[in-house]
Amino acid sequence: MNPKYGLPKNLMGWVDANRASLKPPVNNAALFPDGNYIINMVGGGNTRTDFHDNPTEEIFYQIKGTAYLNIWDRGKFDRIDLKEGDVWLMEPHLQHSPQRPDPNGLCFLVELKRPKAAIDTLNWYCPKCATLVWGASMELQDLVADLPRTYEVFYALSDAERTCKHCGTVHPGKDYAAWHAIRQAHA
Ligand SMILES: [Fe+2]
Repeated sequence: MNPKYGLPKNLMGWVDANRASLKPPVNNAALFPDGNYIINMVGGGNTRTDFHDNPTEEIFYQIKGTAYLNIWDRGKFDRIDLKEGDVWLMEPHLQHSPQRPDPNGLCFLVELKRPKAAIDTLNWYCPKCATLVWGASMELQDLVADLPRTYEVFYALSDAERTCKHCGTVHPGKDYAAWHAIRQAHA
């Protein structure tokens, strides 16, 4: 037969054929782009400063290497590690910022197409005091196109626009190492 979303594929064979898309700056590719699940493989060599508020659940399966999620929860930062072999179901609206510094990392990630009128938000928090510096909400149509458009808006803000209204710290924009260093200095 000719199933609607294609025949089963060998996962690691597919990874080998799609290695280029799993490297920065794209870092992810869809395994079955036509279905109602968003099934992505996410590569490594990538860190980021945004926190994602997803109105739906996400399933993580860290196939190779390690990764971690910075979490923002009610004004405090936390961290969840994804060790090689770990599988995890994340609840809706847990604000997470995935860090994948391992260039050989591979994570199988399943999301849902968003129901009508569901809102995704990207937030950037002050590394010193965890106050919201800037954020944007959207009805997400396309995971790969819609989020990067918002990153670019934030990265283009001036230092004044990225200054924390609570403590005066300047958010370093897309520079995760700088963001993390300020955070560690005040942990
Ligand atoms: Fe602050």
